Amino acid sequence: MDRIVVLDFGGQYCHLISRRIRDLGVYCEVLPSDTSLQELRKIEGLKGVILSGGAASVYDKKSPKCSPEILKVGVPILGICYGHQLIAFLEKGKVRYGRQGEYGVTQLNVTEKDKILAGLQKQEKVWMNHRDVVESLPAGYRTLAFTAGSRIAAYANIGKKIFGVQFHPEVTHTTRGHRILKNFAVNICKARKQWSTEDFIKQAIKEARQAIGKRKAILGLSGGIDSSTAAVLLEKAVGKNLTAVYVDTGLMRFKETEFMKKTFSKRKLNFRIVNASQRFFKALKGVEKPEQKRKIIGRLFVEIFEEEARKQKAEVLVQGTIYSDRIESGVTKHSSVIKSHHNVGGLPKNMKLEVYEPLRDIYKDEVRKVARKLNLPKEIIERHVFPGPGLAIRIIGEVTPEKAEIVRKATCIIEQELKNSGLYKKVWMGFAVLLSIKSVGIQGDQRTYRYPIVVRIIQSKDAMTANYTKIPHPTLEKISTRTVNELKQVNRVVYDITNKPPATMEWE
Ligand code: XMP
Repeated sequence: MDRIVVLDFGGQYCHLISRRIRDLGVYCEVLPSDTSLQELRKIEGLKGVILSGGAASVYDKKSPKCSPEILKVGVPILGICYGHQLIAFLEKGKVRYGRQGEYGVTQLNVTEKDKILAGLQKQEKVWMNHRDVVESLPAGYRTLAFTAGSRIAAYANIGKKIFGVQFHPEVTHTTRGHRILKNFAVNICKARKQWSTEDFIKQAIKEARQAIGKRKAILGLSGGIDSSTAAVLLEKAVGKNLTAVYVDTGLMRFKETEFMKKTFSKRKLNFRIVNASQRFFKALKGVEKPEQKRKIIGRLFVEIFEEEARKQKAEVLVQGTIYSDRIESGVTKHSSVIKSHHNVGGLPKNMKLEVYEPLRDIYKDEVRKVARKLNLPKEIIERHVFPGPGLAIRIIGEVTPEKAEIVRKATCIIEQELKNSGLYKKVWMGFAVLLSIKSVGIQGDQRTYRYPIVVRIIQSKDAMTANYTKIPHPTLEKISTRTVNELKQVNRVVYDITNKPPATMEWE
């Protein structure tokens, strides 16, 4: 398949570039900045390389740099922001420390509307986020556009097919950013549009058949969109040889086990329910630290899957890990470990099962498209994300069956009220967090001393950043009233108004 490679110089928008290119129908993947020329040349179907933005200055000793040889890769190259400066620097142009920097929407004045800037007006809105600037160009390069703060806001070396833009075309604030990326990927690189949901499904089935062969596979089915999509995809590839195991940890959503039974028991795959709630609560007794909870849960999941695998004589463990799980678990070089997502970080090294991850290279919205094509039930496609460790990371402090029941019902109330007010589909997640403290209240003329519930309702595009939702007060009030009326262990409801960053979505 034709493909564009983005070299990751640590910019927070690096993955957005890859998303935007894929949205054009062209396959795109992100590789570390130190990928060598030889490695690039080995990539089949390579049609273009993009050097991403990044927070560093080319003059920092530790800033990520690629070898100047990369520029001889033989396919067109586009540098974005830091990448734009890096190309100029590697080609012996001049980059200097900018006095002011340019941040936010800026007017771009286009002087040459050819090639990379084809189809743009003389003046365009672009989004800037930089301090250093390219001051003079290397030989063979010419300026295509300027802004108030950057004399050289876009350049080209037509002969070498190397281009640079100081602004971010991948960010929607750059009005015609989409056109610029299309100019590069489709018109300049001539990459064919071979990336579609149908193609992905066909290839994933073929690859899974090859990887698994006649062996038996086992899959942890949580009921979330990722594992459900992986299950149905693998069912198409290996049919009954796939056993999908739903583990009832006691920390699942409200009435989840019944829902899962209804959804998966009549399919071709071999569906199994394991009731392990007592095992989970026992292992979590007295444990308060979030990472410890995650590790314990991750280990128990693996133990259970290994037991089930032995029963089924399975040799392969299929997981619904998607691209963003790998990023947040620190798989790519320039991102740090924020939380050890149990489906990635917690697998022991000596695990006896071979791991297979059919969705490892696709983003959440792409998983949704695949799920739709595979006719998964609407309820699964539209439901909010639910973390692998379940309610354990929504109970601050020790996890007990009683607390799990409270937070489960409280979350159900929030979801119902979001649905009643038409907001459910508009938000990323709405859920309850239970704090292990108590406060004083008054109910029915009596003093109460009960738990508080935190309501967290957030909006996000890709889970990397998020904003708290400005929920209408009548909806918040309904949630509050119902929570204290229906849950006798709760006498106070608070609303979390923190964005991510600085907070994460989950409390642990
Ligand atoms: P955070 O809290 O990291 O959450 O801002 C981002 C998204 O990831 C989900 N999440 C998890 N999912 N295992 C998972 O499978 C985990 O350990 C985990 N922690 C957070 C979270 O629900 C949100 O959608």
